[in-house]
Amino acid sequence: MATQPVTQRDSFTSKIGIIAAVAGSAVGLGNIWKFPYITGVFGGGAFVLVYLICIALIGLPVMLSEFIIGRKAQRNAVGSFKKLAPGTLWFMPGIMGLVAAFMILAFYGVVAGWTLEYLLKSVLNAFAGKNPADLEGMFGGFISQVTKPIIWQCVFMGLTGWIVLAGIKGGIERASKLLMPILLMIIIILDIRAITLPGAAEGLAFLFKPDFSKLSAEGMLSALGHAFFSLSLGMGTLITYSSYMGKRENLATTAVQVTVADTVIALLAGIAIFPAVFAFGIEPGAGPGLVFITLPNVFQQMPGGYFFCLLFFLLLAVAALTSSISILEVVVAYFVEELKLGRRAATIMATIAITIAGIPCSLSMGVMSNVQFMGKTFFDWLDFIAANILLPLGGLLIVAFVGWYLGREKTETEVTNEGELKAGYLPLFMFLAKFVAPVVIAIVFLHGLGLF
Ligand code: TRP
Repeated sequence: MATQPVTQRDSFTSKIGIIAAVAGSAVGLGNIWKFPYITGVFGGGAFVLVYLICIALIGLPVMLSEFIIGRKAQRNAVGSFKKLAPGTLWFMPGIMGLVAAFMILAFYGVVAGWTLEYLLKSVLNAFAGKNPADLEGMFGGFISQVTKPIIWQCVFMGLTGWIVLAGIKGGIERASKLLMPILLMIIIILDIRAITLPGAAEGLAFLFKPDFSKLSAEGMLSALGHAFFSLSLGMGTLITYSSYMGKRENLATTAVQVTVADTVIALLAGIAIFPAVFAFGIEPGAGPGLVFITLPNVFQQMPGGYFFCLLFFLLLAVAALTSSISILEVVVAYFVEELKLGRRAATIMATIAITIAGIPCSLSMGVMSNVQFMGKTFFDWLDFIAANILLPLGGLLIVAFVGWYLGREKTETEVTNEGELKAGYLPLFMFLAKFVAPVVIAIVFLHGLGLF
């Protein structure tokens, strides 16, 4: 049975469309919700420093590796490995990626649902006149309910499935090209307000002054896992996306641009949040609600706050959507190309199954919060297994595949567009791909799980 030709797949037509799509996938709740919240949980500066090192030494080489694999093979995450390494077990990271995609989207949809509720609250001006304690109570009261968060989760997942099904990703990417710079502007405005709050310095010190006594082995593993999560790495999203890239694209430049943009946005989100956390006396380790509790306080302290708050939650929901479609696409592309399902059936099935898996995640914020295993709820476990285990392992295999299996010659052909571009970075990249990235991932991984 022949694999479907690439032309039948929904593809990105313009260069800017591809970059917008990859950046749209990378920039999402990971930057604005998860990065600040886990930075708070794992003690601040030292965690941030390890995260940045992971981005540079591991994230960037893994991203370039995914680009090389995807564009060379022009297949989905599993099919790409099967094409480049037929008859081997190298397709395993593709399968792990599918599992990771399923798990990540399950809880991602829940948190994205929260942004919709907060969008509605902003429209209704529900934050006006509330003090930090009220806002904390408001968030806790909302997520612990049974039906409301699930309804929002279903709305968000419905939107995600609908976009993937209708194949209107092109329109979404064009829209996000316009909207993401506006999100960036709002974050910068928030930063200015946050760092001029009384007591802001303490927040900046928390974020940027490393205190290694606060950094645990699990913190280091989480920093590594989050580098993968934030850059959309380790599960074949970027293999899938780059399979649509043209042969003239400069893969290395694109990887650097996306990595820098994603990292800058995460840091700017941290700068907006931590000064405010300290100024309003919120607990930095407050957990998944950190952004939702902190930012409404800041918006209230600025001129035009109503308007900025509304726009912020709207754009955060859009950012989440451009990420969630990239996660669902991994599963759908696999169902369609490898299992020969129709696109419609594949999308509907995957969306429903993932939404159902998300329901206990949502409930673990309330009625199921006591259902814990080793101190983690269902929500925490999905996040932990996907981000801290599957993504790093997938990333290790991906980068090792390029470093050891494809090797220098084929890699050079791909990154130079068959000799058209210069690639002075190639020896460094090969060194990182063969040795540094796999070894560092392995050490942090084993150490984080307490096995080393
Ligand atoms: N990177 C996105 C974010 O930061 C989430 C995401 C999209 C993702 N695609 C992914 C995470 C693939 C891991 C793997 O919100």
